[in-house]
This record gives sequence, structure tokens and C-alpha cells, in this order.
Amino acid sequence: MLNGKNVLLGVTASIAAYKAANLVRLLKKSGANVQVIQTPKSLEFITPLTLSTLSENPVSTKMVNDEDKTWNNHVKLGLWADIMIIAPASAKTLSKMVNGDCDNLLIATYLSSKCPVYFAPAMDLDMFKHNSTKENIKKLEENLNILIPPTSGELASGLLGVGRMEEPENIISFINNHLSLNLPLSSKKVLITAGPTQEKIDDVRYISNYSSGKMGISLARVAAELGANVKLIIGPTNQNINHPNIEIINVISADQMYDNVLENFSSTDITICSAAVSDFKPKNPVNKKIKKETGFNNIELIPNKDILLEISKTKSLSQTLVGFALESDNERNNAISKLTTKNLDLVVLNSLNDKDAGFGIDTNKITLIDSDRNIEEFDSKSKYDVAKDIFNKILKIKK
Ligand code: CTP
Repeated sequence: MLNGKNVLLGVTASIAAYKAANLVRLLKKSGANVQVIQTPKSLEFITPLTLSTLSENPVSTKMVNDEDKTWNNHVKLGLWADIMIIAPASAKTLSKMVNGDCDNLLIATYLSSKCPVYFAPAMDLDMFKHNSTKENIKKLEENLNILIPPTSGELASGLLGVGRMEEPENIISFINNHLSLNLPLSSKKVLITAGPTQEKIDDVRYISNYSSGKMGISLARVAAELGANVKLIIGPTNQNINHPNIEIINVISADQMYDNVLENFSSTDITICSAAVSDFKPKNPVNKKIKKETGFNNIELIPNKDILLEISKTKSLSQTLVGFALESDNERNNAISKLTTKNLDLVVLNSLNDKDAGFGIDTNKITLIDSDRNIEEFDSKSKYDVAKDIFNKILKIKK
């Protein structure tokens, strides 16, 4: 969840500031890019040297740097952040956040930020219980800041009670859980077909195509990153797929793919058929090796079921169905005709005439056409970025 995210950690004046060192270490371990802002008073509790070494970034402490009189751009810092965590958040900082009392770089950045802000209070028992603190926390939560509640235990004052800043390990789990619950596709079920199919001729030969499965795998990855539970039904591929939210169902033939799609389709919210399903299969596959003298002049082929067409017939109003159209001429019209016959919400048009699109390569160039015939043409991009464009569109049309 935190992998690749820009995390801005605000550290304020509290004994619990020592825990910020471990928090930075764990954030880095989770793959986050970390920048730290310390309030001037927090410098008495933990040094910027510790936090800059662990975060591998300079720590900002003031609006204007003493040596070169350069300005720390709080707007830029605020916009850089995907997540802001204020830990420990002292009673004074909570009050400043509520009142917009902008007398330090941390509060200026907080006021400029556009990202989710988590705050982990740390203070003495009676300070935490005080009505002023309670009111401040309530107002912060009403303004969509996210409270990471303090825990109970031995406090720096020697008192026993609530006020200890949550442990860094638990702060990381809290944020991971919170992020996954608030992702656009959390609790949604996404079904994706991908890759080629192989249609048996005999025990050593088959009919297939050049599909690598890369586009479908990228779609599965993006869906999982958006919080969905993903089932990826994929034909033979040598690509590696590993994500806790992606269940992989390996199939070989179009018939196997059809059976698995049918079994799962009714319970899915979004289905994307990106597989290059073989349209035909040998009528009489042979369960031995055909000898060359027998010849291959007459392999009788029969059509495979059109998986997308079949499931489209049972599509409910709440389900979103997306198909691909691989075309070499009369492209948009052919794609629109697939959109209609296969009862799709969105068709992804690939042109065989685009050199950056097609089988096996890492890029793709698509045109999206939705059921209102809105047409959007995209530049050539990596398949992962194309998958993001497709999901951005799905999120706009999702029922
Ligand atoms: N598709 C499918 N099952 C098939 C054939 C196609 O599910 N037996 C799906 C593909 O995954 C894709 C869409 O249907 O989402 C269109 O596939 P495409 O190969 O472009 O077109 P076809 O429908 O097979 O028609 P044609 O080959 O004549 O263009």
C-alpha cells in the first residue's frame, strides 16, 4: 500500500518524538519516499541528523533556512505528499491545526496539503482527557483528518493511562488498512481474461497466437492496486504475476477459459476480456502424435465459443463489461460494432497498424469507446500506464 508513495512526516515536540526514527525506518522499508518536517521545538527531542539519515532526505525545520536564506516551499512540499502523517502530534500542534495557526513550516505545509492527513497524538493523560483536546480532535476528524488513537500505558510523567503515541509498527498497519478500505475499487470483484489460448491438434501441436498476456496482467495489477479482489483467468504465458489480491486461474484452451469465466462472471462487478481467444479449434484433436506421412492438409476447424458474447447475454445492470477489439481496417466502426453486439460498457480498440501496439511488446496504443460513443484516443504508453487509463475510464462509467 505504501510502496512508491510520497510520505511527509511531521514531527512535533513530545517525548514520543524518539519513535519517529523507527517510523521513518518502517516507512522506508515499506517502499515509501519519506520527507520529514520538524517543528522548531521538536529539535530538543530528536535531531534532524537522525531523521535525515533514516529518510535519506534533508529534514526541513524552518520557513527560511539560516545559512543561505533560501525559502522552504511549503506549497511544493504539501503537493508532493501523497500522505501526511503527524506523529507525534502534540496538544499544541493539534490546536494549531484546528485554528490554522500558521507559525511554523509544518502547519504551513499542513494547510497547503491536498492529501489524507493522519495524526497520532502523544501527550499526558490529563491533557488528552481535557475538553479542549477532545474538541480539537473532534474538529480535526470533522475536517477529514484521520486520528490514529493513542494507546494506554506508562506515560513519561509516570502516570498510567491513555496518551502514548501508537507504536510505529501499528501506525503502519493502521495506515495500510485505512488506505485499502478507501481505495476506489475496495470490496469490488474484478474478473480479467488474458493471454492466448492453445487449441490441441495432437499431443505435440496446437493452434495459438502471439499474445503474451502482458496487457491483461497489467490490468490485473492496476485493479489490485485500486483495492479490488482480482481473478485473472490466463492462458499459457511465461510472465510472472505475484500480488496478494490477484488470484490466478491458469487455463490452456478456450473451452477451459469459457468454463472458468462462466463460473465466476455472475459474482463480479467488473469484467474485462483482454484474452486473445483462439476463434477456432480442431474438430477432432488427436490423442497421439500425428505422423508426418499422414499429412496436415485437412485439419477440420470448428468455432470456439465467443466468451465475451456469451457472458454479455447475462450481464446485469450493476455489472460493468469491457472488451477489446483488435482491428486492422475500418477500425472504429468494427470496434463500435463489437461494443453493440457484445453489450459492452467500454471497448478498448487496438490497431494492428500501430507499431507501438500489439502482441508481445511492452507498449500499447489504445482508443476507448464507451456505450455513449464517446471516443478517446491515447498516446503510446507502457501497458501498465494503458491499464491505468482504462481503469480511470471504468471508474468514471462504473455503476
Ligand atoms: N473474445 C472472447 N472469446 C472469443 C473471441 C473473442 O471472449 N472466442 C473477446 C476478446 O477477449 C475481446 C473481444 O472478444 O475482448 C473481441 O475479440 P477480437 O479478437 O478483437 O474479435 P472477435 O470477436 O474474435 O472478432 P474478429 O476476430 O472477427 O475481429
